[in-house]
Amino acid sequence: MAAPIYSPGLEGVIAGETAISTVEGGLVYRGYSIEDLAEHATFEEVAHLLLHGELPSERELAAFRGRLNESADTPQALVELLAKIPAGVPMMDVMRTAASALAHWDPDAADNSHAANLRKSEHLLAQLPIVMAARYRLAHGKRPVAYDSKLSLAGNILWMLFEKAPSARLAKAMDVSLILYAEHEFNASTFAARVVCSTLSDVHSSITAAIGALKGPLHGGANEAVMGVLMEVGTAQKAEAWIRNALSQKRRIMGFGHRVYKTGDPRAAYLRTLCRELAAETGHEDMEAMADTIETIVQSEKGLPPNLDWPSARLYYYMGLEVDLYTPLFVLSRVVGWSAHVIEQLDNNRLIRPRARYTGPAPRKWLHIKNR
Ligand code: SDX
Repeated sequence: MAAPIYSPGLEGVIAGETAISTVEGGLVYRGYSIEDLAEHATFEEVAHLLLHGELPSERELAAFRGRLNESADTPQALVELLAKIPAGVPMMDVMRTAASALAHWDPDAADNSHAANLRKSEHLLAQLPIVMAARYRLAHGKRPVAYDSKLSLAGNILWMLFEKAPSARLAKAMDVSLILYAEHEFNASTFAARVVCSTLSDVHSSITAAIGALKGPLHGGANEAVMGVLMEVGTAQKAEAWIRNALSQKRRIMGFGHRVYKTGDPRAAYLRTLCRELAAETGHEDMEAMADTIETIVQSEKGLPPNLDWPSARLYYYMGLEVDLYTPLFVLSRVVGWSAHVIEQLDNNRLIRPRARYTGPAPRKWLHIKNR
C-alpha cells in the first residue's frame, strides 16, 4: 500500500479511471475533440456518444430521439408542485427538487442495472428541460408550453420557455452551448455523483447530489455570477477602472481561472466567435468590448485566462435568457456527463472512501459534566 498522499481539494490527485473524457491537452469526449463535436455534431449525437459510447448511426439517432420524445413528459403532480414552490426560489433549487422528485414516478427507480440506468438517464435528459421551462412559465404567471417532438432538445428549451419557434441561429447557439457544457472529467459535481453511486445508491440520488454541487459559484454557479459582474460594471467605458479596483481588493473574478486548465479553457476559446457574432446581431457590442477589457487585464495582471462560464453567460444574455436560468441550462447539458459517469462507476464499482489527516486534539481523559 503506497504511503497516503494529501493534496488540499484533491488538487492533482487521480481519484479514479474513466473512458468518457479527458482534459489532458484539450477536451476530448470518448476520443472526439470538442471543437469537432461543437462544429459538426448535434447535442443529441453528443449525448448518445457520452451515454452509449459511440456516435449514433442515422438509425440509432432516430431511435434515441424517439426514446427522448417518449420520455418527454412530467407527472401532473410534479407540475402542481412546481406551481406551489414559493416565488423567488432560485431555479437551481427547483432543479434539485425536481431531479429528486422525478424518481418517484420512474418505474426503474430501484433498478441499478446498466440497462435501467441508461433508461433513467434518458428519462432525465428529456424531463429536466420540461421541468425548467414549466417552472419558469408558472413563475411568470403563464401556463407551461408542451414539448414539441419535431424540435431538438435545444430548440425545445427555447420553444417551451418563450412559446416562439426559435430561429435556426438561436437553436444552434443553444445546441453548441449544450455540447460544450456536457462533460468534463472529474469536476466537482461529477465527482459528487460518482461518490454517491459508489455506495450502490441510485441514479436520481447521484444526479440530485451533482445539482447541489454544481450550484456553487466556484463551479457551475459561476455563469450566473459572471452576469452579476457584467451588470455591476455597466459599460465598456467603466470596465478598466472596475477591474483594476476589484483586483486591488483581491476579489475573485467570476469566469476566470480553472483547477485544471492553466493556459486557457478550450471551450471558452471556441465560444468567443459565436459570442461576438451574436452580440453584433443583438446590438450588444458594448458588452463584448467590456468583456474584452476585463479579460485583457485579468490575464495580464493575474495570468488567469477565462473559463467556459465567462463567454457562456454573455451568450445566454444575448439569447434573451434570464440569469436565473444560466446554471440550470448547465444542468440540462451536464446531466448527460453525470449519468455517463454514474453508469461507468456502477459498472465497475469500488466504494469511494478517502482518508483524512487528523488535526484535532490529542487523546484526553473523560471529564464529568460537573467538572467542565
Ligand atoms: C467550472 O473543474 C471543472 O472542470 C469545472 C468546470 C466544468 O466544466 O465542470 O470547468 C466548470 O466550474 C469552471 C470554473 C467556474 N468558477 C469560476 O469562474 C469561479 C472563479 N474561479 C475561481 O474561484 C478558481 O479559479 C477555481 C475555483 C475555478 C479554481 O480554483 P483553484 O484551482 O482552487 O485555485 P485557487 O482558488 O487555489 O487559486 C489559486 C490562486 C489564488 O491566488 P493566491 O491566493 O495563491 O495568491 O489564483 C487566484 C487565487 O486567489 N485565483 C483567482 C481566481 N481564481 C484563482 N483570483 C481572482 N479571480 C479568480 N477567478
